[in-house]
Amino acid sequence: MNQAPPTSRVVPAAWLRGRLRLPSDKSIAHRALIVGALSGGPTTVVLDSPGDDVRSTVACLRALGVEINEDGGRFSISGRPDRDAPVDCGNSGTTMRLLAGMVAGLPLRVTLDGDSSLRARPMERVAELLRATGAEVTTTNGHAPMTVVGSGTLNPTTHRLPVASAQLLGAAALAGLSAGGESVVEVPGPTRDHTERLLAWTGVHIRREGLVTTLSGPATPRPFELTVPGDPSAASAWLVAGALHADAQITLEGVCISPTRLALVGLLRRMGADVTVHATDEAGPELVGEITVRSVGPLRAASIEDDEVAELIDELPLVAVAMASCEGESEVRGAGELRVKESDRIGAMVAGLDAIGTHVTELADGWRVRRGTPRSGRIVTHGDHRIAIAFAVAATVGLAEAVDLDDPSCVSVSYPGFWDHLASVTR
Ligand code: S3P
Repeated sequence: MNQAPPTSRVVPAAWLRGRLRLPSDKSIAHRALIVGALSGGPTTVVLDSPGDDVRSTVACLRALGVEINEDGGRFSISGRPDRDAPVDCGNSGTTMRLLAGMVAGLPLRVTLDGDSSLRARPMERVAELLRATGAEVTTTNGHAPMTVVGSGTLNPTTHRLPVASAQLLGAAALAGLSAGGESVVEVPGPTRDHTERLLAWTGVHIRREGLVTTLSGPATPRPFELTVPGDPSAASAWLVAGALHADAQITLEGVCISPTRLALVGLLRRMGADVTVHATDEAGPELVGEITVRSVGPLRAASIEDDEVAELIDELPLVAVAMASCEGESEVRGAGELRVKESDRIGAMVAGLDAIGTHVTELADGWRVRRGTPRSGRIVTHGDHRIAIAFAVAATVGLAEAVDLDDPSCVSVSYPGFWDHLASVTR
């Protein structure tokens, strides 16, 4: 199927209706490819419409000597990473941080680099974590390029992470595979748990109890075949669009519905939306199901507590859009991490919402927002896929008379088929 050209102008839709299959979940896909490489294969990872970030992980693993053959979405993996090489992680922070953890546990010397957005993101936290295991890690003033000199025999360590970050937790767990003994990581709040689920499913002794994850090493994951379910963060675009539009019903099929990824569903229900979820497959490492959203009328304002932020982190731009539809004032606090994502997402959302007529106040770690008078606005995406998608949804549901996006093609980082899907469910 030919892809629709990226749409730079988005206007309100008369209605939204349809069923969609979403791109495979990015977080699970990165982990499946990396753990597949560590298994030595033969491992098969089946991916639907992988975006640029997932392709960056594939390219990096290939550069490190892993054989990965792609055939119609089936990625067949054999061989372990065994080559010193520089790798380009593109725009993907998850690729860089997880691969740093992987390389720390291998007898390799690898320099990890990325695009200008990724070079601006903090890498000292992951570097510090991995140094404690015995790996040598140097950053460029706390940023990429970052060089990791790993070892097949690391020290088991106990870390208390400064932020609730699934990427840091994942890096620590991947390094822990090469440590003889118990590696323990404590996070300050709940995060997505895909590393734990996948490693446990591939035979590694790893468990999460509350906020503490413990892995017994050394361990080698067993080879596997996994079809990665749809991405709940991609689903969020349609959940918010369906909840806000006055005439909408959308069903998302084959989505990951593991509990750490359903925080947006909980929030939208708290705001009064009609969202139903039912499981269709519980056999693999993740729960898979179908999610339906139907229009029910205006949503109620809501506020987000600090301990809800990590599980909503990628959804917060769309949460801002949902909040911008409410008469009453909503607030997000404790979300300072958003400033060091692919862009400063607090600054980008506040500027964009202001441009389309919303009443919005920027806070150091979030925002306050309530409904305004919709008008047309030009949106600076900063090349950030989540910003582009959030404002496409805002215009679709009528929170703007129209939006003009400076870089609509950046959606390909996580959701290459987004514009096709938007065209297929709207009139
Ligand atoms: C991810 C974790 C999140 C999220 C990112 C993907 C992951 O980041 O923002 O898009 O796959 O581990 P942190 O939990 O590290 O903040």
